[in-house]
Amino acid sequence: MQKNKIYIETYGCQMNLADTEIVLGILQNKGYSVTKEAEDADVVLVNTCSIRDNAEQRIYGRLGNFKNLKNRNPHLVVGILGCMAERLRKDLVEEKSIVDLVVGPDEYRRLPELIDIAYNGDKGIGVKLSKTETYDDLLPYREDGLQAWISVMRGCDKFCTFCVVPFTRGRERSRSLSSIVNEVKQLSERGFKEVTLLGQNVNSYLDDKNDFADLLSACAKVDRMMRIRFTTSHPQDMSDKLLFTIAENSNICNYIHLPVQSGSNRILELMNRTYTIEHYLDLIEKARNIIPAVSFSTDIIAGFPTENYEDHVMTLDIMRTVRYDGAFMFKYSPREGTKAFKMKDDVPEEVKTKRLQEIIDLQQQISYEINQELIGTEETVLVEGKSRKSDNFFAGRTDSNKVVIFPVDDKINDGDYVKVKINKATQATLFGNYSSHTDIKSENLALIA
Ligand code: SAH
Ligand code: SF4
Ligand code: F3S
Repeated sequence: MQKNKIYIETYGCQMNLADTEIVLGILQNKGYSVTKEAEDADVVLVNTCSIRDNAEQRIYGRLGNFKNLKNRNPHLVVGILGCMAERLRKDLVEEKSIVDLVVGPDEYRRLPELIDIAYNGDKGIGVKLSKTETYDDLLPYREDGLQAWISVMRGCDKFCTFCVVPFTRGRERSRSLSSIVNEVKQLSERGFKEVTLLGQNVNSYLDDKNDFADLLSACAKVDRMMRIRFTTSHPQDMSDKLLFTIAENSNICNYIHLPVQSGSNRILELMNRTYTIEHYLDLIEKARNIIPAVSFSTDIIAGFPTENYEDHVMTLDIMRTVRYDGAFMFKYSPREGTKAFKMKDDVPEEVKTKRLQEIIDLQQQISYEINQELIGTEETVLVEGKSRKSDNFFAGRTDSNKVVIFPVDDKINDGDYVKVKINKATQATLFGNYSSHTDIKSENLALIA
């Protein structure tokens, strides 16, 4: 059969972006090509997210658009991949019959076969979760660039009571260290300058006797001019060894995404987060002692069941205590099948909205203050390309993941590490002037054994 064009849209977390590259790798191997226009495609795939209701609603909206396309082109195959495929398979196939294909995150190897089934007019359905699938041996499809993601583990065993991920992604399992290191090598040879190692809970990574700290240091050794980032760390099992590994390797970014979710121990317990605020603050202090330049970001949920005003104030307090560089902030959204779904969603919508706004306002103020303190300093920036707003400016990122904008200069190319002297800052962006080229983080090079 003639193989044709695939169009794919990706929603949700970075793991979904990484999965999309695996999916495209699998399909290209089978002779499909990739198109950036849905109108051009024979197969439209939507890699979906179920984390909150508004994520799903957005995707339903998009499916409506594809239904119109399908009306014009009845041969078009429309497929749902990812987390919604696990959660809503029945609804999507039986009730919203525009979908021909429903494939969950552990069944992507079967996609070519399932697409063929859909081409023949049946429904292609693969939604089994696996205890072992890591797509270890598959080469993801990646366009050339500077930044790449690598999923190092899949699934989650934490069962936070609000969260669908353990249900949509299944049990935790890790990819082999050697296959990850090989992929980092290949990326380095292709000129990539930054790799982000991904997992819902990377601290649980385990391959034989190698833990996540071992994996990080093995990846960091591949190419010292390549930045290594990682996400997400769960506060319960962040080890001292991991903190020392970050401190000892100049090219592992001094940046930890450490979701706190709430500042109230009572709420944390209801969430089954398995740590207390005291433990969390000890961890932050320890990390700051071991890695003096470390910065933190976090996730916060406003309006979890039974959250009262005192709990909310404790969340604002922890934000003031830690002073995060950034935060992802959400209103609690009940998810069917989770433990919290059985609790009453008793914080009224307008109260959730008000609390979330207070959280956002506070974070913006803190980010602004932190960035103001950087005025006058020199930051090491990886040049990513021209700024989105103007070709007269470059955009890059600091080690701590802040965007820096500075005027173009003939001496500078994408992928260079440069020192930029900061002269202006907003809560989201730093501005400055080029001062010199540099090593990745020259002050720390002495630490490289
Ligand atoms: N594995 C990561 C988080 C993955 S989901 C971790 O444990 O930190 C990303 C964020 O979405 C979570 O940290 C949480 O803040 C938010 N989130 C998850 N489920 C949610 C829900 N039902 N309602 C609102 N926010 C939610
Ligand atoms: Fe969800 Fe908790 Fe797992 Fe994160 S650690 S993915 S919040 S269950
Ligand atoms: Fe969404 Fe699934 Fe990621 S629910 S956040 S795409 S793991």
